[in-house]
Amino acid sequence: MNPVPHHIAIVMDGNGRWANARFLPRIAGHKQGVNSLSRCVRACVERGVGVLTVFAFSSENWNRPSEEVSGLMELMVVALAKEVPRLNDNGVQLRFVGDRQRLSDRVRHGLDKAEQTTAANQRLVLNVCFNYGGRWDIAQAAQKLASRGEAITEQSLNQAMALAHVPDPDLLIRTGGEFRLSNFMLWQSAYSELFFSDRLWPEFDEAALDQAIAAFSHRERRFGQTTAQVRTQVRAHPGAPSHEKAA
Ligand code: IPE
Ligand code: IPE
Ligand code: MG
Repeated sequence: MNPVPHHIAIVMDGNGRWANARFLPRIAGHKQGVNSLSRCVRACVERGVGVLTVFAFSSENWNRPSEEVSGLMELMVVALAKEVPRLNDNGVQLRFVGDRQRLSDRVRHGLDKAEQTTAANQRLVLNVCFNYGGRWDIAQAAQKLASRGEAITEQSLNQAMALAHVPDPDLLIRTGGEFRLSNFMLWQSAYSELFFSDRLWPEFDEAALDQAIAAFSHRERRFGQTTAQVRTQVRAHPGAPSHEKAA
């Protein structure tokens, strides 16, 4: 059995459908999505998860109707004002991952301030991917290396990524019933265990999270090796993650 995943990543999808089903505007679904995230963060802290990375706004989400985009930007500012004090009390370190250049000064200031306020917290790192795309991250990492005249290797690219401050996700969850990554963590999810939930994000509760963690606990992570190799290592070094034992 695998221990509780150290790093969980989530594509929080289904807010719009949740609102549509209730004859509410889509933004009402996004607001409910913030409440769901707040509950999920608390549950992750309680379960000993070290890193939670969530997809809040993709590089492609700019293509949505302008009132939805501006509603999401406004919601970010409002949600930070409401949630940061509580996150801070719970030892959560907030990090925003994505291209900040296209964001308004007001939003950018909100993100900077939330990061500064929570920078010293150690209990859980919450990465919020905002104006983020997996392809953007790979391209910006390559550009960084090229501008410094450094060689492009797996290791150097990895270190230049916007998510270099955390290890790769162990478990990647997508809610909302779709079976795709939609440009999320393309580089880092190479060996993540994938879990797809039919629940719409506003309805993804502690029980749904526990279901995903339980499914993860039964997966055999082989990292390219054979089952026999993995099982021998588990007997020799019980408790250590199998890919570290191989080294
Ligand atoms: C995910 O919910 C949140 C964002 C992309 C901002 P959606 O808004 O994509 O919800 P559905 O997929 O339309 O139901
Ligand atoms: C992915 O969801 C982005 C976020 C959850 C922020 P989308 O709803 O944008 O993905 P597609 O368009 O259905 O692939
Ligand atoms: Mg969607």
